Amino acid sequence: MYRLSFLIIIFILAGSLTGQEPKTHGPDFKMDCKACHNTSGWKVDLSKINFSHDNTKFKLRDQHAVADCKKCHKSLIFTGVKSACNSCHNDMHSMSVGNDCIRCHTTQNWLVNNIPQLHEQNGFPLAGAHTVLSCIDCHKSETNQRWDRIGNDCASCHLKNYNAATSPNHKAGGYSTHCTDCHEPISMTWGGGNFHFFFSLTEGHNIKDCTKCHDPGNFKAVSSECASCHLKDYNNTTNPKHASSGFGTNCIICHTTRPGWKPAQMANHDPVFFPIYSGKHAGKWGACTSCHLNPNDYKQYSCLNCHEHSNPTELAKDHKDVANYIFQSTACYNCHPKGSEK
Ligand code: HEC
Ligand code: HEC
Ligand code: HEC
Ligand code: HEC
Ligand code: HEC
Ligand code: HEC
Ligand code: HEC
Ligand code: HEC
Ligand code: HEC
Ligand code: HEC
Ligand code: HEC
Ligand code: HEC
Ligand code: HEC
Repeated sequence: MYRLSFLIIIFILAGSLTGQEPKTHGPDFKMDCKACHNTSGWKVDLSKINFSHDNTKFKLRDQHAVADCKKCHKSLIFTGVKSACNSCHNDMHSMSVGNDCIRCHTTQNWLVNNIPQLHEQNGFPLAGAHTVLSCIDCHKSETNQRWDRIGNDCASCHLKNYNAATSPNHKAGGYSTHCTDCHEPISMTWGGGNFHFFFSLTEGHNIKDCTKCHDPGNFKAVSSECASCHLKDYNNTTNPKHASSGFGTNCIICHTTRPGWKPAQMANHDPVFFPIYSGKHAGKWGACTSCHLNPNDYKQYSCLNCHEHSNPTELAKDHKDVANYIFQSTACYNCHPKGSEK
């Protein structure tokens, strides 16, 4: 078709050309004729022209570089061909994603390889349970090339799940339809660690009755500081007696939510005070009270109940060359702050 119409145009032009050569390519054409023509006639062998399309306003790349000139230039008036992609290519998407085709396409082929990034840019990463779905599970338009807006809100796709939820019954419970108030945005299921992901309800906190922590019928955020709910427990401790022992109220330094508050591990004991989980004393003590003999005051400690019984005279021998050696815990600690020889 192109070829035929092209020839017709040339034919018509040829008939009326004498004296009008400069107008063949239109009145606005400014290029040097020698780039394409030579003195042997107006016929042009396109494989021999000394013309680079890169010097025009439209660089030819990929599939465009191998396309026939005539596919884009329907006449010898080269000027004025529009360069917007959709002036030559049909918008398969019926305007559902706009005219800026190069947001998703290149000139190589129509495949799109930035689908994950596109979803991220839309604030909807395809992660968790959404990784394994096909496009049409979510994009249900009348043609499978339309990408109509769906909306990122979980409820725009999952309202039916909300209505069907029985355990617990979401509607009856007056739960918000803003699912991420309670459910993790990205996960595989609606249960387990997905629910209440911002403050995990495990071990001692695996409590069915929400009102143990929330006002009835009101799921406003409450403080997640352990002490905001457990100060009474702290004040009631007897062994060890926390307040007088110098334990702070930042429970998570020593506790998890494990039922019974046991065992406790003091996360900053090694770097700040004395290595007990690492170094020479790791595994060598039974309870905190091996050193802190007085459970009401952890500022006190003793090194001697072990090192004395193990071998006090040996210890003195070991220190015979050490000036100022005395058999006293604070002295031991001062010379051995890391519980090691050096
Ligand atoms: C970018 C390349 C290019 C440039 C530059 C160019 N032409 Fe052409 N010209 C063509 C092509 C292609 C044809 C069609 C030739 C064919 O059918 O073999 C053509 C054909 C012609 C014809 C013959 C038309 C016909 O009916 O046979 C004339 C006359 C002509 N050009 C004049 C000019 C003049 C004058 C200039 C300089 C102002 C010029 N051209 C610059 C590519 C060019
Ligand atoms: C994929 C489409 C496409 C193909 C293939 C293509 N062109 Fe173009 N060409 C364009 C577009 C778009 C422009 C920009 C037109 C403008 O700036 O007005 C252009 C510009 C030009 C211009 C400059 C016009 C001017 O006045 O600045 C010339 C000459 C030209 N093309 C010749 C050719 C020739 C010769 C071939 C084949 C070797 C070719 N084109 C192949 C799309 C194409
Ligand atoms: C002036 C017309 C024109 C413009 C403007 C144009 N194209 Fe093309 N494009 C063509 C032609 C002609 C082909 C060759 C294949 C054909 O005949 O459809 C082509 C081929 C392609 C192909 C390869 C198609 C395939 O089936 O392999 C892609 C992809 C493409 N163009 C993307 C684009 C994009 C993206 C833009 C905008 C940046 C664009 N095109 C602008 C005319 C154009
Ligand atoms: C937001 C991204 C996006 C934009 C913008 C976009 N497309 Fe697409 N397009 C796609 C996706 C996704 C496909 C499917 C590709 C695939 O299966 O790999 C597609 C496919 C196509 C196809 C091939 C259809 C088929 O049947 O195989 C054409 C042609 C196309 N697009 C043209 C365009 C044109 C023209 C524009 C600009 C008007 C455009 N697209 C803008 C995302 C987009
Ligand atoms: C779990 C649901 C889901 C799946 C699966 C999914 N999408 Fe999307 N997609 C969305 C949502 C949500 C948006 C954000 C925009 C909106 O509100 O529609 C979106 C946006 C898009 C856009 C428009 C981007 C833009 O910037 O305009 C394209 C194109 C798209 N998706 C293509 C795909 C393709 C292709 C696949 C399959 C490979 C796919 N999607 C799989 C939910 C999904
Ligand atoms: C564009 C539609 C769409 C949006 C928006 C969307 N989803 Fe989905 N989601 C789906 C589809 C489709 C499935 C697979 C079918 C199903 O299980 O309902 C799915 C599956 C899931 C599953 C797995 C269910 C199961 O038991 O296998 C979870 C969990 C989930 N989505 C959570 C969410 C959350 C949380 C949000 C909001 C951050 C959200 N989804 C937003 C479409 C969507
Ligand atoms: C106020 C908190 C809250 C909100 C808001 C909430 N859920 Fe839930 N959802 C829960 C709890 C609690 C569970 C039970 C979790 C478990 O068993 O680990 C649950 C479980 C579910 C289940 C599985 C239960 C069943 O019976 O199948 C689905 C499906 C579900 N939610 C969907 C949704 C959807 C969809 C939304 C938003 C439209 C939503 N939820 C909003 C608290 C909430
Ligand atoms: C052990 C205490 C505890 C239990 C039991 C508990 N929550 Fe919470 N909940 C919290 C804490 C603490 C926060 C605040 C977390 C944060 O902001 O980091 C919170 C936050 C919330 C929020 C978020 C409110 C917002 O605006 O961000 C919702 C909704 C919620 N809980 C619902 C529930 C539901 C429904 C149940 C019962 C199935 C429940 N919670 C059981 C302690 C609890
Ligand atoms: C410096 C470390 C440390 C801090 C901080 C700490 N605890 Fe403890 N806690 C312990 C140790 C050690 C035990 C004894 C564990 C054992 O017997 O295995 C204990 C035991 C308990 C017990 C059970 C013992 C009893 O007498 O009832 C409760 C309750 C308790 N802690 C509450 C708290 C609360 C609440 C906080 C924060 C407000 C807190 N703890 C902060 C170290 C700490
Ligand atoms: C919003 C209130 C709230 C917050 C915040 C909270 N808890 Fe709890 N916790 C409870 C409730 C309610 C129980 C159920 C037992 C009770 O009534 O004391 C509980 C139980 C426990 C238990 C089990 C007690 C036992 O007797 O077996 C431990 C351990 C515990 N929490 C540790 C913590 C730690 C550590 C933190 C800080 C990370 C914390 N809690 C933050 C409300 C809270
Ligand atoms: C091997 C001996 C040893 C063991 C076992 C030990 N500590 Fe200590 N602890 C020390 C020493 C030494 C210091 C440093 C005292 C100082 O800086 O004056 C200390 C300091 C502390 C302090 C800071 C007291 C202050 O000065 O404010 C606390 C609290 C404490 N230990 C808690 C514990 C807890 C809880 C355990 C059990 C989990 C424990 N310790 C086990 C040797 C020990
Ligand atoms: C619960 C018993 C116990 C207590 C209490 C104790 N130690 Fe030790 N300590 C040991 C044992 C057992 C070793 C030998 C470890 C080995 O040889 O691997 C040791 C080794 C040492 C060493 C020699 C390390 C080396 O490099 O060979 C020093 C120094 C030391 N302790 C200092 C102290 C100080 C200072 C205190 C008091 C803050 C203390 N110990 C409290 C049991 C204890
Ligand atoms: C004035 C500083 C000082 C005091 C006080 C001190 N030590 Fe030492 N300790 C040393 C030095 C220095 C060495 C290394 C001696 C050597 O290698 O000859 C040493 C070595 C040791 C060793 C390693 C012995 C061996 O050869 O394996 C132990 C165990 C030890 N001290 C424990 C203690 C205990 C327990 C106390 C408190 C009763 C204590 N030290 C008090 C400085 C001191």
